[in-house]
Amino acid sequence: MDVKEKIKQIEKQIEETVKDIESSQTLLEIKMKFLGKTGEISSLMKNMRDVPPEERPSMGKLLNALRQWTEEKFDKLEAGLKSIELKKKYAEEKIDVTMPGIPVPDGAYHPNTLITNELISIFLGMGFEIFEGPEIENDYYNFTALNTPQDHPARDMQDTFYLAENLLLRTQTSAGQIRVMETKKPPIKILSPGKVYRSDDDATHSPMFSQMEMLVVDKGLTLCDLQGMLDEFVKKIFGSDVKTRLRPSYFPFTEPSVEVDVSCFECGGKGCRLCKGTGWIEVGGAGMVNRRVLEGCNIDPDEYTGFAFGLGIERIAMLKYGINNMKLLFEGDTRFLKQFKG
Ligand code: PHE
Repeated sequence: MDVKEKIKQIEKQIEETVKDIESSQTLLEIKMKFLGKTGEISSLMKNMRDVPPEERPSMGKLLNALRQWTEEKFDKLEAGLKSIELKKKYAEEKIDVTMPGIPVPDGAYHPNTLITNELISIFLGMGFEIFEGPEIENDYYNFTALNTPQDHPARDMQDTFYLAENLLLRTQTSAGQIRVMETKKPPIKILSPGKVYRSDDDATHSPMFSQMEMLVVDKGLTLCDLQGMLDEFVKKIFGSDVKTRLRPSYFPFTEPSVEVDVSCFECGGKGCRLCKGTGWIEVGGAGMVNRRVLEGCNIDPDEYTGFAFGLGIERIAMLKYGINNMKLLFEGDTRFLKQFKG
């Protein structure tokens, strides 16, 4: 067929096919059919080889004009379709800014978190650093290095969950004391919060609970320094008129060991239900770090002394917020939890 004829035919064909196209995507596919590498116009151009040389210039002109015309045609159509499509998309995505938002209910911190954060900020203010030990411990850190060898009766003070012969869920954050003293040289001032585990379960005990441990090792520390620091901390957490009292006690890793009481912040010491008529409430255990524990960590007990203090977070939360059953702290009932705001 004559090339001129063919050109006319292609033009007609293009006019026909693009007439009812509604999407820019379809338009693109059709454009490729004519202008693509293997498209109709491209193959016509390839056929130029068969045209006698003297006709080639005029033929080339015609074909170039065809290509330009086709490109312009498609570009124009594409721009039109795209603008219609964009308008449609905007219309669909239109939002009503006057619609009321979806209310997001207020969150509240768990009492444990509130107490933990409060303790951390008090002790950080006194220059303590935070150390978090592992919850899965071995016998050495949880017991032996804390002067509680295998056959020691004090092991019965804490019913332990064993995972394997030598692996257990730590029963006390005191395990972290050893990890710190093994790697750090005095002066040491460490605060160690974390979960601990004991086979215990009633209104005031849970198999998993949280402790906060505090350890100070330096030259010349005495029990007075411990009490001074406890006084300071107790005033900050329970109120400025609350006093502390140390009662003799026993822990294998402290000597002497004490039980720490605070004057009842509910009745001021007169005696009430909270303090069971005694005027005092127990908040934790403490003592001077046993010299055998220091020695085991390569700290010379003739040069350095230390004191440690451990308390139960849940117990402090229950006292401070008047919670009468520990279970409430573990059930995750939002009606209970949302009553506590930091
Ligand atoms: N680890 C002890 C306990 O869990 C508490 C304690 C800590 C006692 C530090 C003395 C010193 O009962």
